[in-house]
Amino acid sequence: MRSFIEGMPKAELHVHLEGTLEPEHIFSLAQRNGIELDYKTPQDVIDAYNFHDLPSFLSIYYAAMGVLREEQDFYELAYQYFEKVATENVLYVELFFDPQAHTSRGVAFATVIDGIHRAQLDAEKNLGIQSRLIMCFLRDLSAESAMEHLEMARPYLERIVGVGLDSDEKDNPPLKFAEVFKRARELGLKLTMHCDVNQKDIVAHLWQCLNDIQVDRIDHGVNALEDEAMCDEIAQRGLGLTVCPVSNRFVVQSLTATEIRTMLQKGMKATVNSDDPAYFRAYMNDNFIALQEEGDFTRDEIVQLSRNAFEVAWIDDVQRKRFLQALDSYAADTA
Ligand code: ADE
Ligand code: ZN
Repeated sequence: MRSFIEGMPKAELHVHLEGTLEPEHIFSLAQRNGIELDYKTPQDVIDAYNFHDLPSFLSIYYAAMGVLREEQDFYELAYQYFEKVATENVLYVELFFDPQAHTSRGVAFATVIDGIHRAQLDAEKNLGIQSRLIMCFLRDLSAESAMEHLEMARPYLERIVGVGLDSDEKDNPPLKFAEVFKRARELGLKLTMHCDVNQKDIVAHLWQCLNDIQVDRIDHGVNALEDEAMCDEIAQRGLGLTVCPVSNRFVVQSLTATEIRTMLQKGMKATVNSDDPAYFRAYMNDNFIALQEEGDFTRDEIVQLSRNAFEVAWIDDVQRKRFLQALDSYAADTA
């Protein structure tokens, strides 16, 4: 199963660019940008990763990204991620980025998006990996700030496929951003939002995503299983759920294998993703392999998870068919 998973064509739909910042890169960027770190070695940084919930993760995540300052920094960050997942047979990526976490430190929006975009072009040319960008708003900041950043993105709209909502979910419901997401929809952008595992009011947040915001996808969304009517609605709409097994383990001490299998059985389009792979120390293959082992998933179930990702990806049907053919041929050739 391990080698089958490693060779399988995959798409990643839930990965935060800033969550791919590896400890060694934190050190090299700190040196280049003249930034003093609290840690002496990359291993000291890893040793500090004792997350147990969303806020304890986010405080380390935001502190570390302070080393990202120049266009080249964002280029390297994105390109290194693409290089890594190209070795894992990831064919397609939808990449989140958090502009507010950079503009708030005096880094221009253009610096961030130009660096990422250049890496996307080089990754497509050199590595054959295709990608699209999802701009996330930080839900613990104001709706006004989110709207300002949507305005900032206007000159770059053809580089962005959709908007998302991340950061600390507690008391920051989807409805807080209803106007921003309505505007994003008018601008032709796809909509997704985090409904992180076991957050306060999570079932209410999920219903807001479905009924008020009318999202095109849900990030995480494991708690939908608590409501039968919600599961039916998600299955019937064919909405993708971007589940992140290893990330979940930091919060619920499980890879949520049972829940993911239940989603498949209910016809919900669950997918497997890495979330913040440098922090959770697991990229795509590690997530799939650990999940398969915990849940004793069959080959068919693993292929279905990968198929779901291509089916719910924000690509055109020609491209979708091409990716699905690659997955089907792989499954047939390795049967
Ligand atoms: N930002 C980066 N990773 C996140 C996560 N897992 N949940 C919410 N916000 C995030
Ligand atoms: Zn996430």
